[in-house]
Formats: sequence, C-alpha cells, structure tokens
Amino acid sequence: MTDAQPRFARLLVTGGAGFIGSCFVRDVLARKDGTLVTVIDKLTYAGNRANLAPVEADPEQAARLRFVEGDISDPTVVGPLVRDVEAVINFAAESHVDRSILDPEAFLRTDVLGVHVLLEACRSEQERNARGERAAAPRFLQVSTDEVYGSVETGESHENDRLEPRSPYSSAKAGGELLARSYFVTYGLDVVITRGSNTYGPYHHPEKLIPLFVTNAIDDKQLPLYGDGLQRRDWLYVSDHAGAIGHVLEQGVSGETYNVAGNNERTNRDVVTTLLHQLDKPWTLVRRVEDRPGHDRRYAMDSSKLASLGWTNKMPFETGLAATVDWYLQNQDWWRSIKAGEWQDYYERQYGARLAGSTDAG
Ligand code: NAD
Ligand code: TYD
Repeated sequence: MTDAQPRFARLLVTGGAGFIGSCFVRDVLARKDGTLVTVIDKLTYAGNRANLAPVEADPEQAARLRFVEGDISDPTVVGPLVRDVEAVINFAAESHVDRSILDPEAFLRTDVLGVHVLLEACRSEQERNARGERAAAPRFLQVSTDEVYGSVETGESHENDRLEPRSPYSSAKAGGELLARSYFVTYGLDVVITRGSNTYGPYHHPEKLIPLFVTNAIDDKQLPLYGDGLQRRDWLYVSDHAGAIGHVLEQGVSGETYNVAGNNERTNRDVVTTLLHQLDKPWTLVRRVEDRPGHDRRYAMDSSKLASLGWTNKMPFETGLAATVDWYLQNQDWWRSIKAGEWQDYYERQYGARLAGSTDAG
C-alpha cells in the first residue's frame, strides 16, 4: 500500500477489456494501493481479455480484479455490480466511426441505452443511500469524446460549446453524456464527464488509424488514407488519457465536464509520415482512397479547465508514437490474432472497393 489513499476504493470499470479501459485498470491496479476493481465487459470484437494479462500475471493485482463478462445494457447483471462499488467509470462503448457508418444500431444500444441502464443502477443506489442502506451513492464518470463537438474548422472547443456531432458514433456518444448530465440535474446523481481526444498507444485495436497503418506497414500492405489526408486530429497517449480520467474521478466537481486534450495536433499525413519513418517503410505503401462520408475535418479542444484541476499530460507525441510502434513490433501475436476471423469480413467491407479504386497518395 502507498501513503496516498484514493477517494474511491471499490470501482466498477465498464469496457475494461478495451483499449483505454484496460489501460485504466492496469494503471490503477499497478498503484498497489488496495483499490478493488470489477470489470464488466461484453467482449465484443473490440474487447480482449489479453489486454488484462499484465494484471493477471501478478498475483497481488489479480486478487484485486474481478472480471465479469456481461452487457451494460442488462440491468440484471449491472444492478448487483453497482451495489458493491463506490464509483462507476463507463468506458464501454462501440467506438469506431467507420463501423457506426456501416451499422449504427449497436452504437445506440450500448452508447445510449447502456448508459441509461448504468445510470438507473446508480439511481437505485442513491435511493438505498437515502434509506440509510449504504454509505454514499456511487460517483458516475462518463467517458465521452471530443467528437461530440463536431468538426472544428478553427479555434478550440470549450466545455460549454454547443454539441454538433455528425456521425452515428459521435451522436450516440453525445446522447449518452447528455443523459448522464440529466441524471445530475434531475436526480442529483454524482456525475462527472470527460471528453478525450484521439487516443493512441499499446493495445489499440487495429481498426483505428495508427494501429492499422503500423500493422499493415509491418507486413508491407497498402495504407488506405481517406481523401486528401489533411484532416487534423489531436493525439493523446493512452496512459495520459487514463490518468486524466482517474484525476477527474478523484478531483472533478460533480455535474462538470472536462476536456482532455492531447495538445499534439497533426494532419493524418503528418502522422503517417512519422510512423513510416519510425518503421523505415516507404510512402509508396500509402494509397489515397474514397473519403469517409461526413468526415470531420478537425478536432481541437481547450483543456485549461482540466489543467486548473491539476492535470498535465506527460507524453510527447513523437516519443509516444515510437513507443507504440515498438509495442506493435514486439507484440505481433496480439494483433495478428485480432486480424484473423471477423476482421477479414470487416476489412473487405470497409476497404475492398476503396483499395480497388485507390490512387497514388502523392
Ligand atoms: P474500445 O472499442 O477499444 O473498447 C470498448 C470496450 O467496451 C470493449 O472492451 C468492448 O468489448 C466493450 N463493450 C462494448 N459494448 C459493450 C457492452 N454493451 N457492454 C459491456 N462492454 C461493452 O474503445 P476505447 O478506444 O477503449 O474507448 C473507450 C471509451 O473512450 C469509449 O467510451 C470511447 O467512446 C471513448 N473515447 C475513445 C477515444 C479513442 O480515441 N479511442 C477518444 C475519446 C473517447
Ligand atoms: P480513427 O482512428 O478512425 O479515429 P477518428 O475517426 O475517431 O478520429 O481515424 C483517425 C483519422 O484517420 C480520421 O481523420 C480518419 C483517418 N483514417 C484514414 O485516413 N484511414 C483509415 O483507414 C482510418 C481507419 C482512419
């Protein structure tokens, strides 16, 4: 045990077998401060028990982790889990924009209705608290995204800006966080919300830009760049994102929303140039393909509110990207097993015609 005791000793982490959720779980348990973590994860195509392998390899940490395979939309599973904890951190989501364009329904089920089920379970605990049956009602942290602001051509989004989501994914995420906020306003539930920017790092599912391009490039496969590749994203290293969420969990003011920026804005072309350089692979692998419909041109956030709460990121982009590239080189079993099975159908659906009609990326 360390000296600094966390505010919440028993956590329910939804989506804790995914990319950012598993980083949060690994980092919390590695603090060795006695925190108990229950993970609920549906293990969709994006969920992977192997993401928690480092925890399970350490008996002390493994003893403080309980893993439940289950759906956040199922109140019979969620209710008893929320009963046991002091805080719920909701990472669980369908998370990929391109899949939301191919098939939006699952996004509404998990990213909106699933949030409702979690909030109702917290509200039941609040009622138990009012009856004197438990200490405090659980704190609910909703992990949201900068994509709820929509495409930001100039300047930076602030927490009170209008939400203008433009994809089924970002619209569902906006619905989920608005619902969470409504439970603070209407029922006085202890809710905090984070809006993180584009996250990258180890254990990132290979459907997303950086891991897709790194893993394809390792195999000398084509890299499908959407449109002119001049879209801009603000890149946030995964342990910085998880750390910011932990910081808001501990320090965030109830009812407030916090932007989590990376402060590493790059065009997609710049990102691809850097990762190819780090892999020593040629630009000729890059193909210009048909653009994503409704493609958001740019995301950028101001995160001075989070800074004033005392959080700063640690990882510079080029260092984080080099560590990420290295991780994918060292952990080929992890991503090669994901790129088997369901992946092949998805890849053909998303990229088959695009790559067949692709042109030189210049
Ligand atoms: P991910 O797709 O890697 O992981 C999502 C996890 O949720 C998976 O383990 C999946 O099995 C699980 N899940 C999906 N549906 C579920 C359900 N109905 N019940 C229980 N578990 C379910 O996503 P990620 O990149 O780790 O993102 C985590 C959260 O952070 C999401 O809410 C996402 O919207 C948000 N976010 C992501 C980014 C990013 O760049 N990756 C940026 C900002 C915010
Ligand atoms: P992505 O990683 O899907 O994150 P998001 O859409 O949530 O920002 O995509 C990042 C950027 O990379 C986005 O502008 C779309 C672009 N992109 C490509 O050009 N090709 C691809 O194959 C993918 C997956 C993304």
